[in-house]
Amino acid sequence: MLNLKCLVILLALSCLGTCRNLGNDKTSRNSPRIKEFVTINGSEYYIDSDSWLTQDQSKTDCITRNSRLVTFSSREKYNDLVTYLSTRGLGWTWFWTDGLRPVSSSRWFWSNSNTEITQFLWAVNRPEAQSLSQSRCITFSFDFKGWDDDPCNIVLPHVCEKC
Ligand SMILES: *[C@@H]1O[C@H](CO)[C@@H](O)[C@H](O)[C@H]1NC(C)=O
Repeated sequence: MLNLKCLVILLALSCLGTCRNLGNDKTSRNSPRIKEFVTINGSEYYIDSDSWLTQDQSKTDCITRNSRLVTFSSREKYNDLVTYLSTRGLGWTWFWTDGLRPVSSSRWFWSNSNTEITQFLWAVNRPEAQSLSQSRCITFSFDFKGWDDDPCNIVLPHVCEKC
């Protein structure tokens, strides 16, 4: 029985390190609070991990900075940005992209340009939502190794990109 107790304690301890992130809790506000402009490989970004906004509110914020929510045209661009974010302590943090699937549509668009997305960087087992009765918006994080789909009205940090 002692062994069983030890096993439980060991599991609990090892869980402390990883389990808090396994819940995919996008609303955790423990990330570093950063608002900064940065240029990565020729793309100019504004990173805001300190504002908690819906996708629509984030779009508005980007517009005030003469930019738009970030879009990903290639795996390289995604990798460069999330690698940078992880070096700033934002590897677990979720951010909005400009991508969405409108209500009743099965197709995904970059909303700023209204162009259909044809190259996807979904994480494993994503997109998740089956129902078309609600719009879904695309989020990303370094740790998730790709995109996730979420209700568009949750509040998250965002990354703007110079148009
Ligand atoms: C810039 O792009 C190159 C080629 O894709 C890549 O090897 C390099 O790591 C990138 N640099 C940064 C700072 O992301």
